[in-house]
Amino acid sequence: MSASTDHSTDRDVIDVLVTDHREALELLEQIRGTADEEHRRDLTDSLIAELVRHSVAEEMHVYPAMRDHLPDGDEAVEHDTQEHKQLEATMKRLESADTTSAEYTTALSDLERVLRDHVSDEEQEQFPQLRQHLPEELLVELKGKVEATKKIAPTRPHPASPNAELFHKLVGPGVGLVDRLRDRITGRHENT
Ligand SMILES: [Fe+2]
Ligand SMILES: [Fe+2]
Repeated sequence: MSASTDHSTDRDVIDVLVTDHREALELLEQIRGTADEEHRRDLTDSLIAELVRHSVAEEMHVYPAMRDHLPDGDEAVEHDTQEHKQLEATMKRLESADTTSAEYTTALSDLERVLRDHVSDEEQEQFPQLRQHLPEELLVELKGKVEATKKIAPTRPHPASPNAELFHKLVGPGVGLVDRLRDRITGRHENT
């Protein structure tokens, strides 16, 4: 990840998620700032992996808490999950597009638009409400769960399957780990 990555001051789950958002937006800036094709590919793959991990962890632990504790929780989760699927669909396009192609440029802009909108919804609306409605111990407990899930979550976008279901399927037989190791060995060429 980027050099500025720093989770050391994160106190609770909201801090972790907001730091993730900042990192993702920073990676986007870095992608836009580099002309080197290979570097662009690497940064794009990092962005995809980080966003997938983040989304899976949110869907596993944070969105259920939103459902349970926020006044309009069900509606918010529905909306946010839809946006995750849109993000994953654009990541699928980015995964296979040549970084010099028009297709890539369009997919990157689409990703940025959906991501900024999604981050703003979460940070302006759902996260402040979570802080308001959840006891601090629970927010801290969720931080641990989110961090643990991010370590073993899948790293590739799967726009067609629910992320929580996918996580259980992958992690059950240890495939999540295999997924990660394979990513490291083969780079970005395979799909799951
Ligand atoms: Fe998020
Ligand atoms: Fe999200």
